[in-house]
This record gives sequence, C-alpha cells and structure tokens, in this order.
Amino acid sequence: MDARALPRHKPAMAPTPPIVRTVADLRDRVAAWRKAGERVGFAPTMGALHEGHLSLVQLARQRAQRVVVSIFVNPTQFAPHEDFEAYPRDEAGDAALLAQVGCDLIFAPGVEEMYPPGAATTVTVASVTECLDGVARPAHFAGVATVVTKLLLQCGPDVAVFGQKDYQQLQVIRRLVADLDIPVEIIGAPTARAPDGLALSSRNAYLNAAQRQTAVELPRTLNEAAQALRAGRPVAEVEAAAVARLQAAGFDPVDYVEVRGPEDLSRLGPGPLDVPGRILAAARLGPTRLIDNIAV
Ligand code: PAF
Repeated sequence: MDARALPRHKPAMAPTPPIVRTVADLRDRVAAWRKAGERVGFAPTMGALHEGHLSLVQLARQRAQRVVVSIFVNPTQFAPHEDFEAYPRDEAGDAALLAQVGCDLIFAPGVEEMYPPGAATTVTVASVTECLDGVARPAHFAGVATVVTKLLLQCGPDVAVFGQKDYQQLQVIRRLVADLDIPVEIIGAPTARAPDGLALSSRNAYLNAAQRQTAVELPRTLNEAAQALRAGRPVAEVEAAAVARLQAAGFDPVDYVEVRGPEDLSRLGPGPLDVPGRILAAARLGPTRLIDNIAV
C-alpha cells in the first residue's frame, strides 16, 4: 500500500530522533503508533550513515507515517579477521543526519540486548547464500539472516527497506521473509553513487586518496561488462575480461565478477545472455573490500 496520500507525521525542524536501546521500549513505541492506525516503516543499518542510508529512510517514509531506523554493528556477521572493531561508529552524527530525513525513532541496542547470554538460535538460508559472498565470507549471511530476522520481529514494521548495493543480502532477506512468513513488505532501494559512479558505502571511509581514485574502476568495469553483454558477448568471456581489468587496475584479490539470475542468483552463461541478469563483483583494494552490482 502506498501511504503517500495518508496524513503523515511531520518531522519538526530537525530535533534528533529519540533513541531507544531495548526491545521492550521499541515495541512500546511501535504499539502506540499502531494503536493510532499509523503504518510503520523500518530501515535497518549498521550506522556510519551516508546518503545511501538516507535514501532508504526516505523510501520508507513514502510508504509509512512512521519510520524506525536501527543502528547496530552486528558482530555475528563479521568473521574474526574482519573489521568489526574498526567499523566506523558515530551515533551522534547519525542521529543528526536522521533528523534531516524525518526518522521518528532510532533503535540502537547493545550487543547484550540483541544476543543475551544463552542465545543459541541462528537463522541460515540455503541456496542464495551458497555463492559469491557466501563463499568469500562463509559465516556472513547466517549472521545477517539472524539479526535481520530478530530486528523484523522486534520492530514488526509494515515495510522494511534494504539497499540494492548489498544485492545478495537483499535476496537472502527476501528469501527468509518468505520462508518464515514474516508479515513485512521488503523494498530494495537503488544504489546511491558518488558523482564519479562509486557506490556509497560506509567502508569507503577506509580508502586513501589513491585507492579512492582506483575504486571507481569497479563501477566502470561493471558498466563495460553490461555493455559487452548487451552486445552479445558470451558471459564467460565478459566475466574473465572484467576480472582482468580490475586486477590490472590494482584490485587484489578480485573475489568474483559473475553474472547471475536476478532473484535466485543462479549461474548464467557461459554463452551470450538471453535473460535478465545481475552482474555482481567483489574485490579488495588494500584492506578494503568493495562490492557492487548492476542489472543487465
Ligand atoms: O546492510 C547492513 O547494513 C547490515 O547487513 C544489516 C542489514 C543492517 C544487518 O546487520
């Protein structure tokens, strides 16, 4: 349902949204809105917000009178060698940004609130997790699926918005919501990009000036690959050329550039593409792992 026509709670001139830290407080707030007949939108995040996140909030606002944003750097989706500790955190800055886009409530639980002692349940999604980042980051999607399931059950929104930049994650979430009968509509938000085309990401903050210049080769390579596929070049040849181009630009390693089915992420090719696909890539520049994807 499109809530644009509905009376909308008007954000005041940017007071920062209230922050709740417990599931009980989150549920109280949402219950009060529901009692007033208001629809609730939700944008889960790990904070370090940028324009891309704000566009998720804006999309949620088009669909609901109230919008909750969660900020939780979820430890279970990081492997021990990954950047959980270093992941950028700026709750005050995030709250100030969220005030500008009309977020009604921030849910910022601590790790103990989300994973109290004794927590022993993990949500695993098969199939769509068995390729791409599911191979490169083996425990990642179980962490994502578990925390997103919990967040959706804690908040109980009508609609939840996730970025298409994390395209495989979006398909994992669509799958688990369908399989577990969670009553929420999932919206995929288009990737927000810098003027030169680089997908906005909290991890772009790790790039030094030279790496930032090189990083733009990632979207350029995907666009070139899309053009080649549209021109009828075989998938396998296009994938190999894209990997070689990224390596030549200085990405090391290139985890993958693959053309996959847009929903089930099944392998397409090796010949010319005759159905819609998605080109997905992940590659590292120094310590920073970048991902991107586009439709073809
Ligand atoms: O995309 C993210 O920021 C995270 O993976 C999410 C969906 C908030 C779960 O921790």
